[in-house]
Amino acid sequence: MKPLLFSATPLALLLIITTIVQGLNLNCQNQDKGSTLQVLHVYSPCSPFRPSKPLSWEESVLQMQAKDQARLQFLSSLVARKSVVPIASGRQIIQSPTYIVRAKIGTPVQTLLLALDTSNDAAWIPCAGCVGCSSAAFAPIKSTSFKSLGCQAPQCRQVPNPTCTGTTCSFNLTYGGSSIAADLSQDTITLANDAVPAYTFGCIKKATGSSLPPQGLLGLGRGPLSLLSQTQNLYQSTFSYCLPSFKSLNFSGSLRLGPIGQPIRIKYTPLLKNPRRSSLYYVNLFAIRVGRKVVDIPPADLAFNPTTGAGTIFDSGTVFTRLVASAYTAVRDEFRKRVKPNAAITTLGGFDTCYSVPITAPTVTFMFTGMNVTLPPDNLLIHSTAGSITCLAMAAAPDNVNSVLNVIANMQQQNHRILYDVPNSRLGVAREPCT
Ligand SMILES: *[C@@H]1O[C@H](CO)[C@@H](O)[C@H](O)[C@H]1NC(C)=O
Ligand SMILES: *[C@@H]1O[C@H](CO)[C@@H](O)[C@H](O)[C@H]1NC(C)=O
Ligand SMILES: *[C@@H]1O[C@H](CO)[C@@H](O)[C@H](O)[C@H]1NC(C)=O
Repeated sequence: MKPLLFSATPLALLLIITTIVQGLNLNCQNQDKGSTLQVLHVYSPCSPFRPSKPLSWEESVLQMQAKDQARLQFLSSLVARKSVVPIASGRQIIQSPTYIVRAKIGTPVQTLLLALDTSNDAAWIPCAGCVGCSSAAFAPIKSTSFKSLGCQAPQCRQVPNPTCTGTTCSFNLTYGGSSIAADLSQDTITLANDAVPAYTFGCIKKATGSSLPPQGLLGLGRGPLSLLSQTQNLYQSTFSYCLPSFKSLNFSGSLRLGPIGQPIRIKYTPLLKNPRRSSLYYVNLFAIRVGRKVVDIPPADLAFNPTTGAGTIFDSGTVFTRLVASAYTAVRDEFRKRVKPNAAITTLGGFDTCYSVPITAPTVTFMFTGMNVTLPPDNLLIHSTAGSITCLAMAAAPDNVNSVLNVIANMQQQNHRILYDVPNSRLGVAREPCT
């Protein structure tokens, strides 16, 4: 494969944030149709959660890296099945996942913007009167279809730490650096045009910490109480998303639920199941190619091991791909060797391979069982707004957590349709301009 030339054209290669300007003629109307929902970045001009002050390019990159650090700790805690104390961060960062979708809950409907999280099963939303939640909350009292589940309900045995408050089934759990206490509840959830009656979720009564998505979470994992498990008949445990391009926050992507309308021409790799953590979507990444060279990576860095949780997952909540330290070092060294010209290397926050002159970069290909994915240039490198700095947009897994997990993150997934086909136990990847 020929190396590609990246001319650092400042306008074309604009990354994220910079100016979330006034007077956008961006269409923030609901564009959900059929079983397809619009996916927005949390910092999109259409998102109420965007920062009040525009961030500089460097600030936004550092902030995304800090969020990733917390996300990786969270994923590691899932793998290790114990909670990890979050890294203290100098700034107040909402460590919630990166993408949001609209969901309508109750009768008549109340609209909430739920965070999309492929590495979680549960759904929970802040309910009226919640202590420690941000302002927007669902009001059960205004919904005629709302119902609390009792301690005898079979679902009560599927939640973590269930307790009885009166006759209501309550539970609590931790999410990143936050914890929630919620009542197990049911109501109709409407996603695009699909109404799902008696959908079971947690109605949050109490929350601590700053990691919670402000209006709740839509877990797309595959465990017992997940959306997938509750909508077997409707969606047959199949969904896909196309995450919006990082070139502009104005772009949106889509989440398509169910087998209808999924791409036919798509490459697949088998999904692997870790019984210790059934909600994560593991795949077998067995090698990484840089240019024409298959990089020499210790096999244990990539091997799937259900006991330790080691292996590779696709995650919608991590921004930049992380590899186990020795695997990252091997890939990075080969990348550096093949960059033209042989320019001085600088750093930017957690990125250790940056250049302040225009470069020609080698291609990087993830080799999965049955499927090679070569990253397009936009999915491999980030460029500063002014075009003055270019970085390899990957990093080593943080060394202060149980770093056995390789995470294929959303920057590397942008402008691809990622299809989760649970009945056939496979994950598909196809190039698609999302916006
Ligand atoms: C978003 O779109 C508006 C016009 O609709 C444009 O002025 C603005 O520069 C865009 N923002 C980004 C970050 O691309
Ligand atoms: C979970 O709930 C129990 C009982 O209500 C409470 O004692 C405990 O402190 C809660 N744990 C967390 C992490 O909120
Ligand atoms: C992936 O690329 C390698 C060459 O590096 C090739 O030998 C292999 O057949 C490819 N795999 C698939 C599934 O296309």
